[in-house]
Amino acid sequence: MSSTCFDRIAELVTNRRELGDGSPLGLRRDAAVVVEDGEVVWVGDAGAAPATDDHRDLTGRCVLPAFVDSHSHLVFGGERVGEFAARMSGRAYTAGGIRTTIAATRAAPVEELRRRAGLLLAEMRRQGTGVVEIKSGYGAEVATERRSLEVAGELTAETTYLGAHVMGPEFADDPAGYVTLVTGEMLAACAPLARWVDVFVEDGAFDGDQARAILRAGAERGLGARVHANQLGPGPGVQVACEVGAASADHCTHLDARDVAALADSGTVATLVPGAEFSTRSPVYADGRRLMAAGVTVALATDCNPGTSYTTSMPFVIALAVRECGLTPSEAVWAATAGSAAALRREDVGHLGLGAAAWLSVLDAPSHQYLAYRPGVPLARLLTAPEGVTARAPGVGGPGSASQVASR
Ligand code: NIG
Ligand code: FE
Repeated sequence: MSSTCFDRIAELVTNRRELGDGSPLGLRRDAAVVVEDGEVVWVGDAGAAPATDDHRDLTGRCVLPAFVDSHSHLVFGGERVGEFAARMSGRAYTAGGIRTTIAATRAAPVEELRRRAGLLLAEMRRQGTGVVEIKSGYGAEVATERRSLEVAGELTAETTYLGAHVMGPEFADDPAGYVTLVTGEMLAACAPLARWVDVFVEDGAFDGDQARAILRAGAERGLGARVHANQLGPGPGVQVACEVGAASADHCTHLDARDVAALADSGTVATLVPGAEFSTRSPVYADGRRLMAAGVTVALATDCNPGTSYTTSMPFVIALAVRECGLTPSEAVWAATAGSAAALRREDVGHLGLGAAAWLSVLDAPSHQYLAYRPGVPLARLLTAPEGVTARAPGVGGPGSASQVASR
């Protein structure tokens, strides 16, 4: 039982209109927030908070809900820097590169998968990210998919079964056989370890009918749906996502008017991952402006993976979304917090309303707009986390309590 007051905050982003200036970010200047037993219990003016056990002065800084990274692939073996360098000298990205990582992941001891995923999560936390979704998908066989989800489940509650990333190499000539595996034995082994099921809908991966079958089979086991949709070209991904009531359609780079309308008419969030466009040197980025104008709920995520987006940085993604996807700095910060919480159907994170989980981040800057204004500068850091969560990787230093997360 302990309470901390974060006081004299230059700008507090609450993501609750009624707690602030009436804008979606619910901004308050000269503010204070009190956290007790892992929850936000009070929000108000600087200097006006009730007495607490600890008191921190954050003069000149912005405090915001910790970023929610709703799309990542942190469990993998090997890296693909050569493939990245080749792309930067003109070679195109193809989904086939995923098979390189499948081979390395199958060969990696579980301790190695755990150690490296933990290091990547620690990197995220050092840059202001709280809740993270982590997918399997580099096994493409029962044992490695299950092992990947075991590792993911040690790091987050937001685990996603992505047996349908690409066809397993053993099934190159038998796609129907692989779908049978993904919806049968592999699903049975993985569903108890997952909250979500995801499918990569793309030429060279899975088509619309295969995706429907896989998402339906997942739903029968209690898994919520998410879709890798319309990343490399137009296709049925977004339509399938909206049709099955997926929580999120991710990427959304190549959309037509029907796709935008389907998203606007559904409860499916559009999660943009501009780090992937950056790292594949895609000639186009997702059109966030068009989605916002249509009233679609937009989220941002890193898509951290060794092939298309080897970044753990939500601030980098925010800067890209502003510069390349047409979001304003305020829209991008909302999308990276409240939007990505919606993409995980989480109501306890992504905002600082009363009762919210105490995931707070702080910027070495006076307002949220500096995240895009000062790209590449390490402004963001986790300020506090619900008890028992550490900013450090497992095995790298000891557990840190909430108040130890940031030393500034
Ligand atoms: O989200 N699109 C499919 N999956 C990953 C890429 C994975 C890889 O190339 O290893 C993505 O971009
Ligand atoms: Fe992905």
